[in-house]
Amino acid sequence: MSARQEEAPAASRRQAPPMDLGALIADPATRIVVCCGAGGVGKTTSSAALALAAAEAGRTVVVLTIDPARRLAQSLGLVELDNEPRRVDVPGAPGELHAMMLDMKRTFDDIVSAHSTPERAQAILENPFYQALSSSFSGTQEYMAMEKLGQLRASDNWDLIIVDTPPSRSALDFLDAPNRMSRFLDGTMIRLLMAPSRAGFKFASAGFLLFSRIVSKILGGQLLRDISAFVAALDTMFGGFRERATATYELLRRPGTWFVVVAAPEPDALREASYFVDRLSAEGMPLAGLVVNRTHPPATTALSATRAEGAAEGVADGGGPSAALAAAALRVHAGRMQLAAREQHLADRFTSAHPDVAVRTVPAAAGDVHDLDGLRVMAEALTGPDADTPTGTPRTRVLPARRG
Ligand SMILES: Nc1ncnc2c1ncn2[C@@H]1O[C@H](COP(=O)(O)OP(=O)(O)OP(=O)(O)O)[C@@H](O)[C@H]1O
Ligand SMILES: [Mg+2]
Repeated sequence: MSARQEEAPAASRRQAPPMDLGALIADPATRIVVCCGAGGVGKTTSSAALALAAAEAGRTVVVLTIDPARRLAQSLGLVELDNEPRRVDVPGAPGELHAMMLDMKRTFDDIVSAHSTPERAQAILENPFYQALSSSFSGTQEYMAMEKLGQLRASDNWDLIIVDTPPSRSALDFLDAPNRMSRFLDGTMIRLLMAPSRAGFKFASAGFLLFSRIVSKILGGQLLRDISAFVAALDTMFGGFRERATATYELLRRPGTWFVVVAAPEPDALREASYFVDRLSAEGMPLAGLVVNRTHPPATTALSATRAEGAAEGVADGGGPSAALAAAALRVHAGRMQLAAREQHLADRFTSAHPDVAVRTVPAAAGDVHDLDGLRVMAEALTGPDADTPTGTPRTRVLPARRG
């Protein structure tokens, strides 16, 4: 990209509105917060940090995590997948923090058991096609995350549920997968496949026989039999699946639900965040704002990159080891200022496309965030006051706004 293109367009001088996640999670009217975003941007960590902040603000909160990093899981007391929330000890917190890891297969198995007779449930659970679907079908994790959210909400044990979303490539998968999955379970192909057993060979026309022979060739006869048996057993649950997907989807639209979109200060993640923000607004789903996670604000902004470079050259000319050291430090600062300027530029570009979306930046910690102390630092960055920062740069930004 040329230096010219790097320059922010005039419209982007618009300031992003600040995001008050602190007030949002403390508000008793807030019942569900969903953290979405592209893969690897910090959804799981942000969810856990927000949950910790909520417990410290007095809420009884449960965080539903999905595939948390091992050390983070351990520090939340999640040593094994048990598909139920566990209380996390947070000394001194007026509220309660509970955490769980989603067990996708167990969640699916539980739905099957809850909606069929024991014999039918057994037949489904033992079916190889079901086993593949419940543990690896793309979209199953998203569907089951929504399912679990619905269950947590229905149990009414928590006054706030914070939901992490699966590590999909696209943030939109979380919204799309449940529908795609129920369409699949209710799909034409599957209905055709099971037609002979259901409608007394009504559909067993030459066309269907040809179709099923082709499918059988592609998928293999055994798999086809597995699918047919699975679908026959699942037949009574069809309505169930679709209704549940729809009901949970509606839950996401209800007042009291908020989405937090997480992105890294990188073009791809912010582009993804942009699509997602558009989609939420098209669906009428409330957006709390955008978290730009792992930014690199410089320790001071008093010295510009250009001046630091110039000073480094001047100092280096003086010669001697301490001059070399000072020059190196100035160059590090110059590099840091340039990085921060790039990140700010990307954030500005987002804001110029979405001027109403509130923004909060979260600086990169020195290492991974894997314990309560690390989460607390992140929670402070997420929920602390916008203007009251050590560097004086508001938390909407990586660098202070240029005057004029
Ligand atoms: N502000 C931060 N500073 C330093 N490290 C961070 C920060 N935020 C997240 N991380 C680290 O980045 C890694 C990825 O974070 P996380 O697992 O939360 O991302 P994710 O969006 O949930 O990823 P996935 O899409 O794979 O689920 C983790 O190792 C986490 O500790
Ligand atoms: Mg994650």
